[in-house]
Amino acid sequence: MADKLLTRYEELKAQVNFHNYRYHVLDAPIISDLEYDRLLNELKKIETDRPDWITPDSPTQRAGARPADRFEKIRHPAAILSLANAFGADDARAWFERVKKLDDRVEKARFVVEPKIDGLSIVLHYRDGLFAQGATRGDGEVGEDITSNLRTIRAIPLKIPVDAKGPTPPSNLVVRGEAFIPIKEFDELNKKLEEAGEKTYLNPRNTAAGSLRQLDPQLTASRPLTLLVYQIIHSEGGKVPTSQWEILEYLKVLGFPVTDIARRFNDLDSAIAYTETFNEGRDVLPYEADGMVIKIDDLTLAADLGFVGKDPRGAIAFKFPAREVTTTLNDIGVAVGRTGVLTPYAMLEPVEIGGVIVERATLHNFDFIAEKDIRVGDRVLVKRAGEVIPYVIGPVLDARTGKEKTYKPPTKCPACGQAVEHFEGEVAWYCVNAACPAQLLRNVEHFVSRGAMDIEGLGTELVKILVESNLVSDVADLFTLTIKDLSVINEELNRRRREKNPPKTPVKAAAKKAPDKRPEKLFNAISKAKTQPLHRLIIGLGIHGVGEVMAKDLSATFGGLDKLAEVSIDDLMNIEGVGPNIAESIVDWFSRPSSKQLLGKLKKAGVWPSGKQKASQSSGKLSGLTFVVTGALPTLSRDGVKEFIESHGGKAIDSVSKKTSYLVLGENPGSKFERAKSLGVKVIDEAELRKLAGG
Ligand code: IVH
Repeated sequence: MADKLLTRYEELKAQVNFHNYRYHVLDAPIISDLEYDRLLNELKKIETDRPDWITPDSPTQRAGARPADRFEKIRHPAAILSLANAFGADDARAWFERVKKLDDRVEKARFVVEPKIDGLSIVLHYRDGLFAQGATRGDGEVGEDITSNLRTIRAIPLKIPVDAKGPTPPSNLVVRGEAFIPIKEFDELNKKLEEAGEKTYLNPRNTAAGSLRQLDPQLTASRPLTLLVYQIIHSEGGKVPTSQWEILEYLKVLGFPVTDIARRFNDLDSAIAYTETFNEGRDVLPYEADGMVIKIDDLTLAADLGFVGKDPRGAIAFKFPAREVTTTLNDIGVAVGRTGVLTPYAMLEPVEIGGVIVERATLHNFDFIAEKDIRVGDRVLVKRAGEVIPYVIGPVLDARTGKEKTYKPPTKCPACGQAVEHFEGEVAWYCVNAACPAQLLRNVEHFVSRGAMDIEGLGTELVKILVESNLVSDVADLFTLTIKDLSVINEELNRRRREKNPPKTPVKAAAKKAPDKRPEKLFNAISKAKTQPLHRLIIGLGIHGVGEVMAKDLSATFGGLDKLAEVSIDDLMNIEGVGPNIAESIVDWFSRPSSKQLLGKLKKAGVWPSGKQKASQSSGKLSGLTFVVTGALPTLSRDGVKEFIESHGGKAIDSVSKKTSYLVLGENPGSKFERAKSLGVKVIDEAELRKLAGG
């Protein structure tokens, strides 16, 4: 009877381990979770009755160990080597030329290309097929015993071969691999932490390192660690292959997790070409890779080549340009945008990221600085990937000296000194002073731009001169400019251009030159703008949240600025697509003394269009669709995305309702996301939005 139970026990152990392997190593389970749980429960029941039978390879023994006081040291059976770096194809070819001179066999060598995973090197010892010990790399000679922690990683076989049909491994086998947290699992972990109001992690690598060095294995068990193995460090009592390609095959057959993107090539150029396809496309990898490793396939030859310091000559790390670096946060600046939004930015110790010198990076918003506890003087992790503006990920807490200073967001606009304001449901702070000098420049630029009043010839340079010379202190002043004023600024423009680009030959006598028509042209363009339709003037006012579609609706509904200036929040909310936030923002804008003054001046200058327009009738791929945006998008700003949606005929609105067509989801989304989910509104990201708009 006991015999039969013992047989069943052994069978169950093997089965659970096997299904564990199918799930965590092959990512191809063949039984349901329910069936797996049934097997595991039966196994646990036997172990409760017969604790004396429990062996270390039982799947129940993964996270069973007690917390340790410290980690013991383990001497590795052979040096755990590092790799020399190649930054590009030329470096890799130079490496090949160097080693070719050392050994004739290199000329005809084959190469294996593998991903260089950005994780932690670990060493796993197997005795008679059982996982016996695991260590960190340490200094390459001696590492730390993290066996109990490694046991919790389900991709690590507790017993090999995993499949009873597999070959018998050498009685003593030591393999090396890279432990890491996959990107998706990392993001999910951070999301959970965020939802629980806890601090989030900086990046997968640091989190993996921290998780493996926990004294309590239960903590390690709770982190989504996995690994890929790529090397046999030592073996006794059995033969192992002598080429890298076969080693990978062999390790796979024994039941270890092995990369499936490794390839073997007959010449270096093909190996380099393969490597380079992963540079831009590294985003497709489910883990962070900082490059690819090019290895000479023949391990006997590789070993004969020897090493330089700790770097073997037989392999090279072909590094991708870094996307994440650390540097010092020298200060935090605040930029004031056209709509008055205050955006904190990092003033960094200049640093190269992916071939570009970066000295500024966005800090998103003030909440972000507080949440991440970013302090002036901190070492910060900065990321720059693709087209995205460089951004600060967070502080490197271990590098704190105590001299860092906590940052306090400004309560007043850094440009004009007026108190800043906050709109409900948004994280941003705004300077709402229409006469704020920082905003003035951007306001005028926006007012004269093609989408608004479309004043031809008034480019950025001229607007700057107008503002700097105090000829324009709000957009209404444009309409009282005389030809003489415009001649003065035109001369200043010519002077600045000459200063920038001095003429090579002396300027001929002025009399010979044709008269400069620019001042007159400008004067006419400004006069013409007085007849622009109402909705263009409304756009030009730059009211927060009011883009083209909304401006057309307001124009059609109220027919003039006199009426619009008097409307209530309720009146506005009767218009489809106007939520409480936009309604409040409009009413707020018209109630401000500075706005009232501006409107008075515009009216006096004859810029007072009226007449109902047709309600917004838009064309474009997004026509008829309404969008709500939440969180920070990778490339489009808050206003930018609204403009994008509207320019493709869609409506960008503030609050989610059942009628909303799509929620566009960015990083750090607000409550709108939850609401959209509960209402069953479709959720898309920026890329999908662009696709909907036709590319
Ligand atoms: S081979 C002789 N292969 O990169 C063997 N290393 O900068 C030397 N790494 O310490 C290492 N993926 O932690 C090798 N496929 C791979 C790797 C890899 C990641 C790490 C490893 C090593 C570091 C060298």
